[in-house]
Amino acid sequence: MQANLRHFTPLASIFAAALALVAGHSHAQPTEEVPFVTSPDNVTLEMLNISGVKKGDHVIDLGSGDGRIVILAAKRFEATGLGVEIDPRLVEQSKANARDAGVADKAEFREQDLFKTDLAPASVITMYLLPDVNLSLRPAILALKPGTRIVSHDWDMGDWAPDRTTVVDVPNKAVGREKSSKILLWTVPAKVAGLWCGAGLFRGASIRLTQKYQTFDGTLAFRDRTRPLKGTINGNELRTPAGDNGELVLQATGDALRIASAQGNLALAQGQSFRRATGDSCS
Ligand SMILES: C[S@@+](CC[C@H](N)C(=O)[O-])C[C@H]1O[C@@H](n2cnc3c(N)ncnc32)[C@H](O)[C@@H]1O
Repeated sequence: MQANLRHFTPLASIFAAALALVAGHSHAQPTEEVPFVTSPDNVTLEMLNISGVKKGDHVIDLGSGDGRIVILAAKRFEATGLGVEIDPRLVEQSKANARDAGVADKAEFREQDLFKTDLAPASVITMYLLPDVNLSLRPAILALKPGTRIVSHDWDMGDWAPDRTTVVDVPNKAVGREKSSKILLWTVPAKVAGLWCGAGLFRGASIRLTQKYQTFDGTLAFRDRTRPLKGTINGNELRTPAGDNGELVLQATGDALRIASAQGNLALAQGQSFRRATGDSCS
């Protein structure tokens, strides 16, 4: 296994040891630092529900165990999927399970290191790993196409707060004191930090933004007026809450930031676009 799976925090080590113990008793032998423990059926279903999986989606499960997440995504939601798993016996078992479920044409399984997996084809990524492993994956996840949904069973992604968290009862949970599992959802945000310059009606206007994960802060400046901008990013869509200035929705596509909808004194600006500045000013 690659070195970065070996640097666990003490908490993660304890969890891994606990999981290994559980896995040793009730499932296949744990082969790696992230042992084989299955997500219960209700957790698997909630992981797919929370991410809104549907036909046309491609789900990649990182460390796919017996294949249950990808198989359910194919069978119930008509999505295609790929499970990558380091343990060859589990890969064979997953392939057999997919055949039994009648979804072998939609659910693919590969014996592969999750860290060497191309994540770009995924519209949804699912994982039941460990906190440090989630953190190691975070840079690659943040570089994915905006709008890609990420679902994690139990573990978070450090200071990248989830967009949504739900809790599912797991009465037989063998790890930890909680008899429940957390399901956490993130959506990869567009990268919008920097300076954007107006054109057409908005020539001379500028938008300057800072960004932390799915939140942004900044200003829109036009002539002698400046309007603060602060809100959240959902994939390609930036939204400020409806405050004194009314709600503003911006759509980011590559190097363009378009005012998709606006209220109040910006209402006439709907449809106007800003381009990403090539230097540090718009002139
Ligand atoms: C906790 S289990 C989760 C199984 C399944 N995703 C589920 O939720 O039921 C984690 C799985 O990751 C696999 N795994 C551990 N390290 C891996 C790696 N580097 N690449 C691929 N799979 C790995 C383990 O063999 C194990 O089956």
